[in-house]
Amino acid sequence: MSSQPAGAPRRLTISDFRKKKAAGEKIAMVTAYDATMARLVDGAGADAILVGDSLGMVFQGHDSTLPVTLDHVVYHTAAVRRGLARSAGHAHLTADMPFGSYQAGADEAVKGAVRLVAEGGAEAVKLEGGAEFADVVRRIIRAGVPVMGHIGLTPQAVHRIGGYVVQGKDSEKAQRLIRDARALEEAGCFAMVLECIPTELARFISGNVSIPTIGIGAGVHCDGQVLVVNDLLGLDGSFKPRFVKRFAELSTSVGGALAAYVGEVHQGAFPADEHTFHSASLRLLHAVGDAPGEDPQVVGAPV
Ligand code: KIV
Repeated sequence: MSSQPAGAPRRLTISDFRKKKAAGEKIAMVTAYDATMARLVDGAGADAILVGDSLGMVFQGHDSTLPVTLDHVVYHTAAVRRGLARSAGHAHLTADMPFGSYQAGADEAVKGAVRLVAEGGAEAVKLEGGAEFADVVRRIIRAGVPVMGHIGLTPQAVHRIGGYVVQGKDSEKAQRLIRDARALEEAGCFAMVLECIPTELARFISGNVSIPTIGIGAGVHCDGQVLVVNDLLGLDGSFKPRFVKRFAELSTSVGGALAAYVGEVHQGAFPADEHTFHSASLRLLHAVGDAPGEDPQVVGAPV
């Protein structure tokens, strides 16, 4: 049985991403954390939706992704899946494995990945790290769950790498990232995110692995791109790193709309008559001397 609305196009699968790379077609991935945004992203024609652990920063208000738990990602993935069930796009759904859900070993990782699929409705999971996680990747795939890799700037390792800084800028570090990319490909990842690395390195990796690379801050030569939806919509006017292009300035328009609402409520201008219900046959009368708390007297037929 399908959860797709009747007549909806078929949703993309991991083999479609490989075909897109072979055909030179770019993959557009966007994050989403709730049903409404998932429907908008899917309706816009996105190929892939990521329930990223970036939700810790843009949704929960933390200053890193580290406090995000598996329960949080399951919750948001299930919300996104419900949004997609009412939408006619073709986006594939991947959920992030949060910090602490796979680092301790493959058994824990498999259990977490299975929860994201079974309870959240994800079709794949993503985890951060290179060759050191190849065995974990293999075990998750063996359990039946496709894995997207993620190398370069890996925000879960922010304390080890010393901040949110561009990775792979010297040849030794670039070589290590190339080895990581090959290890993830060999382990069976269906795609990998390249985050904040020089475009020259992203171009080399993209040209030397068979699986699609999805870049964020990694230049135009990747096989696809991903952005955090709040960033591309300009929902936070104070956040504008170099790799983000704002396709809208929603902090301004949303802020303006909210201020207009507050103003109209304060002035008694909202709700207007057009937002108001009436009943011609109902009159509620308070008899003089009614005891406080007593039901009012209802005259006329209920509508
Ligand atoms: O958590 C996230 O949103 C991500 C993307 C930015 C790749 O990992």
